[in-house]
Amino acid sequence: METLTVALGERSYPIHIGAGLLDRPELLRPHLRGEQVMVVTNETVGPLYLERLLAGLQGLRADRVILPDGEQYKTLDTMDRIYTALLEGHHDRGTTLIALGGGVVGDMTGFAAATYLRGVDFVQVPTTLLAQVDSSVGGKTGVNHPLGKNMIGAFHQPRCVLIDTDTLGTLEDRQYSAGLAEVIKYGLIDDPAFFDWLEANMDRLLEREPEALAHAIRRSCEDKARIVAADETERSGHRALLNLGHTFGHAIETGTGYGNWLHGEAVGCGMVMAADLSRRMGWLKPADVDRVHALVTRARLPTRPPPGLPTERFMELMAVDKKVLGGRLRLVLLQDIGRAVLTDAFDPALLRETIDAFASP
Ligand code: NAD
Ligand code: GLY
Repeated sequence: METLTVALGERSYPIHIGAGLLDRPELLRPHLRGEQVMVVTNETVGPLYLERLLAGLQGLRADRVILPDGEQYKTLDTMDRIYTALLEGHHDRGTTLIALGGGVVGDMTGFAAATYLRGVDFVQVPTTLLAQVDSSVGGKTGVNHPLGKNMIGAFHQPRCVLIDTDTLGTLEDRQYSAGLAEVIKYGLIDDPAFFDWLEANMDRLLEREPEALAHAIRRSCEDKARIVAADETERSGHRALLNLGHTFGHAIETGTGYGNWLHGEAVGCGMVMAADLSRRMGWLKPADVDRVHALVTRARLPTRPPPGLPTERFMELMAVDKKVLGGRLRLVLLQDIGRAVLTDAFDPALLRETIDAFASP
């Protein structure tokens, strides 16, 4: 097992990474301050892992809430189920919420923890690759709105992240590839050596070779923890770099209806589109755009948006984004592999050219 720290002063917390950690309750228990816990999971993950988690929580009053599965349920309506379960179970400010599942469960559990009784503790037990390398770390919580992805939420840091890499054994290939998109993202943002490593080791990752997988998860969490520690609430804009590919991707997710394209798929395609625009800006070399395209393709991710999103609609959807400031859209683009920047200094005509080049009628 390895332990990393997200360094945020008095809100610092550990990320434990290893095989079989669901059976190591001693890692979780120091972070459960009261006598009560509420495990939040969904109808797919619950039957797989809930009993094992609960077995380690003996002696506590442990309740559970099982949510429907899917991005389309990441809504304020579904949040109500969590609040109702907490109120029915008389959970007080000493309670801890435990998110057992992927990013959807994690984001909603964190948001419930941020808002229930004006804020209670929560811990993350992520079970998808995407959640293990990204969404469980950093304290971004929230839900979608029909008009925009993740537009309602709060920053609320977990007390601990427990990553049991064995849980990936039951994850479908398509979901696994979606997680690889966020892994590739770290290489592109500011870790070119990791990008090189991914090019050399993508086949091992696709085989889910434990050593390669452990390295990719650890390195991703290190990269994310460093960026979050530098700009926890995205004030300086540094943390916004973690949104590489996301403005394009969110347009795809919202435009196609939540749940049709997986978040990671949309991000993979979005990174290819961001690379294309970066080349049109004269920043990224054509050969590097090819490298981005090739690695995303090797990770078995789509590189073109689905049909039915014409350029006008795509641009309209991109305009609903948390990075919009003073009415101006800001995008994360690449000056090089491993050098991402947040900028509003892109030429809208070039953005249109990129979308035209990728969009199918
Ligand atoms: P998800 O939570 O929908 O999980 C994907 C699917 O895998 C679901 O059907 C789930 O039930 C299933 N599943 C989960 N663990 C499993 C396991 N071990 N075995 C078998 N099936 C399993 O999707 P995701 O990709 O984990 O997360 C995507 C969400 O995360 C999006 O809503 C996205 O916006 C959010 N996100 C948040 C952040 C953040 O910083 N908070 C970062 C990235 C993404
Ligand atoms: N996934 C974006 C962030 O955590 O900031």
